[in-house]
Amino acid sequence: MNQNTKDRFFITTPIYYVNGVPHLGHAYTMVATDAFARWHRLKGEEVFFLTGTDEHGLKVAQSAAEEGLTPKEWVDKVSVGFVEAWEKLGIDYDDFIRTTEDRHYKTVSAFLQAIYDNGYIYKDLYKGLYCVACEAYYQKAELLEGDLCPTHLIKVTEMEEANYFFALSRLQNDLLAWYEANPNAAIPESKRNEALGFIKGGLEDISITRTSMTWGVPVPWDKEHVFYVWCDALVNYATAVGFGVDQDRFDQWWPSVHHVLGKDILRFHLVWWPAMCMAAGVAPPSQLIVHGWLLVGGEKMAKSRGNKVDPLELVSTYGLDPVRFYLMRETPFGSDGDFSYEGLVQRSNSELSNNYGNLLSRVIAVVVSKLHGVAPKASPDSPIAAEVERLAQQAAAKWDSFAPSEALESSWEIIRVTNSYLEANEPWKMEESDELREILGSALEVLRIVSILAYPAIPTTAAAVWGRINMDGELVDQNISDSLRWGQYLGGSLLEKREPLFPRLSLEN
Ligand code: MSP
Repeated sequence: MNQNTKDRFFITTPIYYVNGVPHLGHAYTMVATDAFARWHRLKGEEVFFLTGTDEHGLKVAQSAAEEGLTPKEWVDKVSVGFVEAWEKLGIDYDDFIRTTEDRHYKTVSAFLQAIYDNGYIYKDLYKGLYCVACEAYYQKAELLEGDLCPTHLIKVTEMEEANYFFALSRLQNDLLAWYEANPNAAIPESKRNEALGFIKGGLEDISITRTSMTWGVPVPWDKEHVFYVWCDALVNYATAVGFGVDQDRFDQWWPSVHHVLGKDILRFHLVWWPAMCMAAGVAPPSQLIVHGWLLVGGEKMAKSRGNKVDPLELVSTYGLDPVRFYLMRETPFGSDGDFSYEGLVQRSNSELSNNYGNLLSRVIAVVVSKLHGVAPKASPDSPIAAEVERLAQQAAAKWDSFAPSEALESSWEIIRVTNSYLEANEPWKMEESDELREILGSALEVLRIVSILAYPAIPTTAAAVWGRINMDGELVDQNISDSLRWGQYLGGSLLEKREPLFPRLSLEN
């Protein structure tokens, strides 16, 4: 393995279908991945955060036709909407891949040619029931009554074509052995078990090319065919780091790659993709991180169901960080969660305005009124120091294990401990003294530590707190290997009372 690999962290989102504007479900995958990337940057790792758009396939070709555009005109138009949305959601990615780019055609050709040369691809006749929205074939038994796709609730169509197959069935034992040897390859465990269930249940070979349409990457050994969209899409992860084009670059980033994905695309990522890597002679990914669905009224958000929530509208109504915080805090990553406006307002008011925001404004108010605004430094002997350090380590461990809601829970526990400490000592009733300085210095130290821990979820406001307590340097440049230790708030500068950072929200907003 390359010597630099351990300091590098490559993380990806799925690439989004360009069949409309992004909805809150897409934003959920995106904010989580952004938070993980930010956390790893704080750890001092070299991070490569990849996202993009999935621009081939029947569905895209159909959407384009409905709009009276060529597929290329359509994807150019729609993919811009994703770029703009991610900017407004504060997503700090390093690369945006589009599967219609030349670099992707090169890698798909090289990757699938490697699988072909290794003897895992053969030609045969295929007949099956196809869901255009999933871009996938279904077994009859998997469908709902009336031959409806279980994800999109639309009728599947019968398709028959001569095409190439990937010999997935031959990799069944290799996949099982790989999961056995890598217990953390897929998290959470329930999702790993689901994948193992598919594999143990018996794998069928998959049809990976199409002749019924032309909107795809041409098969290098048979130009009559294009690759099936899922096959082309999964390879994007290898394209972005130069597979088949720049071997040195690929070796630097692969296989330390972490794929974040929703549970609806588990089978493609946890079964097909590691198998495709093995067949191509490439190491499978380091980790597959599966999250649940964000439901609205108990149902998955989807264009075909007409229950989409617009993330940009939410951000303009409630503010960016309250939305990001709600998405990361409300539901344990891996489980399904129900989106509600009430939940968003309630989370933001209780945890951002009342806890975090009030701690900040209250401490600064007392420093201004009792200590002429001069910030005291953190005392090494503070009675809350040990508990705060313990909780901070706990929060860090949760970020490390891709558990944002628990990471934020432990971080907010630090705030609760501190608020109780203040309630018990009532510094606002004390006169200027060393004891008063110690209490306020401790609270400022907590604000410093919590801002670091909250930064991945709420980067803008965490950085604003950092500024208001007059920390030197940028929060983003902190290295958490030592900045989470107690006792680094130096004080000495003048603090000022300012308007609240987290205004209280109401449903009427
Ligand atoms: N194009 C494929 C992925 C190819 S990756 C090689 C795709 N695109 S998608 O646009 O339909 O979905 C992208 C991501 O958004 C998936 O992780 C999916 O789980 C996520 N979500 C879409 N709706 C969602 C919710 N309602 N809730 C949470 N995430 C959801 O699949």
